[in-house]
Amino acid sequence: MKIVNSAAELDDGCTFVPTMGALHAGHASLFKLAKTKGDFVVASIFVNPLQFENSKDLELYPRTPDRDIEIAREAGVTHLWLPHVSEIYPENVTKKVAGPIGEIYEGVNRAGHFDGVVTVVSRLFDLLTPAQAIFGEKDFQQLTLIKSLAKESYKSLEIIAAQTIRESDGLALSSRNIRLSQSDRIAATVIYRALAAAQESENVSSARESMHQICAQEPLFKLDYSEIINEENFEIATDSTSKQRAIIAGWLNGVRLIDNMQMNPSTGIAGVR
Ligand code: PAF
Repeated sequence: MKIVNSAAELDDGCTFVPTMGALHAGHASLFKLAKTKGDFVVASIFVNPLQFENSKDLELYPRTPDRDIEIAREAGVTHLWLPHVSEIYPENVTKKVAGPIGEIYEGVNRAGHFDGVVTVVSRLFDLLTPAQAIFGEKDFQQLTLIKSLAKESYKSLEIIAAQTIRESDGLALSSRNIRLSQSDRIAATVIYRALAAAQESENVSSARESMHQICAQEPLFKLDYSEIINEENFEIATDSTSKQRAIIAGWLNGVRLIDNMQMNPSTGIAGVR
């Protein structure tokens, strides 16, 4: 694996996995998926200051550079791009606006977050010109916004969605999980249990109720939102919405966790109506 500091050292046409480092098995699965798409796999590590609401959050973001290099190498990344902030954000760089879907759910709590995400992703795409780029479904709102960015501005680029990787008890892998204490880690399973219960529900309103009830049973978990949405436009789903997705976000002792799960796409939530 070659480590480069500038995209100028890289050819066009790679399969690209952008990251902010603190790599874990979830990222490794994205790299492995990239490897199945082609031999030229570029991963970037850039902790994007524009997508943090405040400097404390940016500072607290875990940084594990040596481990990151090992994980990327082992998972088959051929080129690891570690850009300097001046490459990504030269003076007078145009900032992007994520639009209405960037202002709801995660966008409410994290003002400007998605504008920062679409800005950095579009800079990374401009500098690298990949053929394909892979993003995890775990950050479903981010994935949706990046798909529309690509549809609008990067028409020849294919965006590939990668399934969420979970621990054996269902907790979605996330760089934030290492900030959970032992008791918070156990409490965090409430998220998966709530999503799974939604998936088992007979209709949208019972799915919403189940998620609320299950989250309320875990005193350590401070639910921010749980909802069943139309996964194409993030509008509130009804029973007749064909592509429903349950989304959840909340806090465990100051650590924000999010997750989502597709409901049965063809027959409604539980497929029993
Ligand atoms: O999901 C992430 O790690 C980041 O939001 C991304 C897409 C690399 C942009 O900084």
